[in-house]
Amino acid sequence: MTVLEHGISTPAAACEFARRIPKAELHIHIEGSLEPELIFALAQRNGVALAYPTVESLRAAYAFTDLQSFLDIYYAGASVLLHEADFFDMAWAYFQRAHADNVIHAELFFDPQTHTARGVDMGTVVRGLRRACEQAQAQLGISSQLIMCFLRHLSEEDAFATLEAALPYREHLVGVGLDSSEVGHPPEKFTRVFARCRELGLRIVAHAGEEGPPDYIWQALDVLKAERIDHGVRCLEDPTLVARLAAERVPLTVCPLSNLKLCVVNDLADHPMKRLLDAGLCATVNSDDPAYFGGYMNANFVQTVQALGLTESEVIQLARNSFEASFVSPSDRSGLMNKLERSIQ
Ligand code: HPA
Ligand code: ZN
Repeated sequence: MTVLEHGISTPAAACEFARRIPKAELHIHIEGSLEPELIFALAQRNGVALAYPTVESLRAAYAFTDLQSFLDIYYAGASVLLHEADFFDMAWAYFQRAHADNVIHAELFFDPQTHTARGVDMGTVVRGLRRACEQAQAQLGISSQLIMCFLRHLSEEDAFATLEAALPYREHLVGVGLDSSEVGHPPEKFTRVFARCRELGLRIVAHAGEEGPPDYIWQALDVLKAERIDHGVRCLEDPTLVARLAAERVPLTVCPLSNLKLCVVNDLADHPMKRLLDAGLCATVNSDDPAYFGGYMNANFVQTVQALGLTESEVIQLARNSFEASFVSPSDRSGLMNKLERSIQ
């Protein structure tokens, strides 16, 4: 039963509906999908020492107070990734979880500087991830693309060196993004490197307005020429910005459980998702770093639907937004949208 047939929907029906419909995930840091069990398995395989003696003690450390307290543990977790097979195993585990949640298209962020700083070659990272993407298409029917992120706590010079190292793999990248510690590292710090990325034909996204002010969202749009804003929830503090985002249909890749775990909101019942939709914005649901924040796509959908009382029509809107916002060709977008429309008939 859907709202389209009956005009009503119960919260339980809306949750079930959210689980089963096809969707795209556009904000997933693949290193944030490393579950503690896989961190331990890879540490053993690669002879890497961990600061935590057991899976349980590592998981117990996942009590974050803000973005930085998470990033410290997230970068430590990624230190077990050394070989192509490690990047493959990590991404393949993600795709299997995504498939279980009816994700049919995914755009994966990766953080090469976390790896190249430890002596891991860019090619090792990209080849491992690409192989998982190809297997996800062949075995699970999930299409996917890679978005390389620059770490904003590092210099623009470092970002330029990273871009240079990625040039041999240009064909495997749909775009570039900007992540890591937001406050104190405004988008304008990366003006020149993003200009070069645009010349190379890379699509542009940037984290902005997660912990940082609305001004960082303006900078991401006007200076970096970002086509999507990752998080962006603080736009609501600036009505002129909201009007711009709505008029230009700039998508926001929102991550409700991340916002809860990193104390961007104190309670999911206070989450701005419904206000973003009510303002006519192209908001989408995503998991960000699902191994650290307590859930993959469907957990994000279901808990948001429950906390905010979203209806089936709003759930459909969120799924449509995810395909509208994805960096695919017009014909691939029609194919994805058709799968959604067929599932709600
Ligand atoms: N924000 C900024 N950087 C990140 C995040 C995030 O939510 N997740 C992984 N790197
Ligand atoms: Zn993120």
